[in-house]
Amino acid sequence: MSKIVIAIDGYSSCGKSTLAKTLAKHLSYAFIDTGAMYRAATLYFMRRGVIDFDSLTEETIENYLNQITIDFRYNETKGFSDAYLNGEYVEDEIRSKAVSNAVSALSQLKAVRTKMVGLQQELGKKKGVVMDGRDIGTVVFPDAELKLFMTADPKVRAIRRFEELQSKGVEMTLEEVMQNLTERDSNDTNRKENPLVQAEDAIVIDNTNITREEQLRIALDLVNERLN
Ligand code: DC
Repeated sequence: MSKIVIAIDGYSSCGKSTLAKTLAKHLSYAFIDTGAMYRAATLYFMRRGVIDFDSLTEETIENYLNQITIDFRYNETKGFSDAYLNGEYVEDEIRSKAVSNAVSALSQLKAVRTKMVGLQQELGKKKGVVMDGRDIGTVVFPDAELKLFMTADPKVRAIRRFEELQSKGVEMTLEEVMQNLTERDSNDTNRKENPLVQAEDAIVIDNTNITREEQLRIALDLVNERLN
C-alpha cells in the first residue's frame, strides 16, 4: 500500500491540527484542516450579516453555500497549507473570537455538513492525506486506514489554546477560552448531524502528559504498521 488516509478526530484544542501538520510533513502528505473549512463558511455567513444561525431558512443557507469556495494553498514558509475563502486568505480571521463563538452553530446545519463532507471526500480521494476534524473517521472517511481520536484534560487544552491565541495577538482571557472550548465540545458532541463520536476502530491518544514529539512518534509508529 503506497498511500493511506489518516483521519484525526477529537475535542476542540486537543492538538489535532498540530499532529496532523507534522505527520503530513513527515510523510509528504496533504494536510486538510476541516475545522478551517467550517470556520471559513462561518466567516462568510457573518459577513453577510447573519447573527442567528438557527433562524436561517433552508433557501438562504443553500444560496449562501453556493456562493462559497474554500481551498487550501501550500505556504512554503509555514510548511503547510492555508485556507482561502473565495480566493481570499482568511487563516487569521477565521481564528478570531467572533468566528470561534459562532462556528458550532453553523456546523450543526445539515446542508452545511453535506457540502463540507463532499468537499472533504473530494480532497482526500487520491489518499496521501491527513485530515483532522470531528467526523472524519466516522462520516467523511469511514474506511480510513488509520483513525486517531485525540483527547486531553480540558484545563490543559484551555491553557495551550490560550497561549497559542496570545502568541497570535488574539485577545481572549483564559476563562473565555475555557468557556468557548466547553461550549463547542458540548455542541459538537450533542448535535444531531454527524456528532463527534469516537469511531469504533479509532486509536485514542491522550496527550495531557506527553510531549508533541512523543505524540508524533506514537502516530508515526501506527502509520508504519499500516503501511507494512
Ligand atoms: O477544529 P476547529 O476547532 O478549528 O473546528 C471549529 C469548529 O468546526 C468545531 O467547533 C466544530 C466544527 N467542525 C465540525 O463540526 N466538523 C469537523 N469535521 C471539523 C470542525
